[in-house]
Amino acid sequence: MINVILLGFGNVGHHLYKAMEASAGIAIVQIYNRSSIKDITIPQTQDLSKLAKADVYIIAVPDDSIATVSEELPMRNALVVHTSGGVSLNTLSEKNRRGIFYPLQTFSKNTDVPFNTIPICVEAEQEHDLELLESLGFLLSETVVEISSEERATLHLAAVFVNNFTNHLYQIAADITSEKNINFELLKPLVTETARKIESLPPSEVQTGPAKRKDQKTIEKHLKLLEGTPYRSIYQALTNSIQHGKKL
Ligand SMILES: NC(=O)c1ccc[n+]([C@@H]2O[C@H](COP(=O)([O-])OP(=O)(O)OC[C@H]3O[C@@H](n4cnc5c(N)ncnc54)[C@H](OP(=O)(O)O)[C@@H]3O)[C@@H](O)[C@H]2O)c1
Repeated sequence: MINVILLGFGNVGHHLYKAMEASAGIAIVQIYNRSSIKDITIPQTQDLSKLAKADVYIIAVPDDSIATVSEELPMRNALVVHTSGGVSLNTLSEKNRRGIFYPLQTFSKNTDVPFNTIPICVEAEQEHDLELLESLGFLLSETVVEISSEERATLHLAAVFVNNFTNHLYQIAADITSEKNINFELLKPLVTETARKIESLPPSEVQTGPAKRKDQKTIEKHLKLLEGTPYRSIYQALTNSIQHGKKL
């Protein structure tokens, strides 16, 4: 049995709690959160000085609060990890054994996601801690990988492109359609198919559209429709990247 204390009950903390509660090999000993949490039976505290003992302490607070929370922990030489893609292991206080437990997925409190499909990226300074984090990961997911802080930063950058930027492009499409009273729902099968295609083929092989075809007439038409909007420069930059983008 691996005993865990969760620190932070936001998007990630909430999903980790649900997945860990469902795992027979994990016991959540306590949850720390600044504000009190409703509808949970697990002991909780709002006071870091009242933390219990555990095999691993998982800090799931916003990136810019990780250093402060880890510094304020009362214990020493315990295994303390954070869940961020973009924050280095060195950000954690040196008074404890440091590690990373980064679930590579987008989490919102009100959406369900099957945790067993989420790659968990782990890192630790000590070999036995790495083994514990791998065991913990495999109790939650089918995919657990050891990734250095440098590799994780690269993965996080790539994740911003496939998730955050893609979602923003959905938002732009929603704005463009709603402006003309066109139902955004009509685009959803296209969204699904775009994601499905790269399951079996590399993105470079499935790119379509006016930029790829070098259809200048259509490109000019689209740019005219976007005149005076902030989206015109995004259209131009993406068109340019599709046509002339080079490998890094
Ligand atoms: N969301 C994602 O999709 C995602 C995916 C992978 C990794 N991550 C990483 O996971 C971590 C948590 O992200 P999140 O999306 O779960 O954040 P979040 O939803 O904003 O949750 C923040 C949690 O941290 C607490 N908190 C905020 N500031 C704090 C402070 N100064 N001291 C103590 N507690 C504080 C909040 O408590 P209150 O309730 O009291 O405000 C809340 O419980 C981040 O490092 C993020 O990079 C996020």
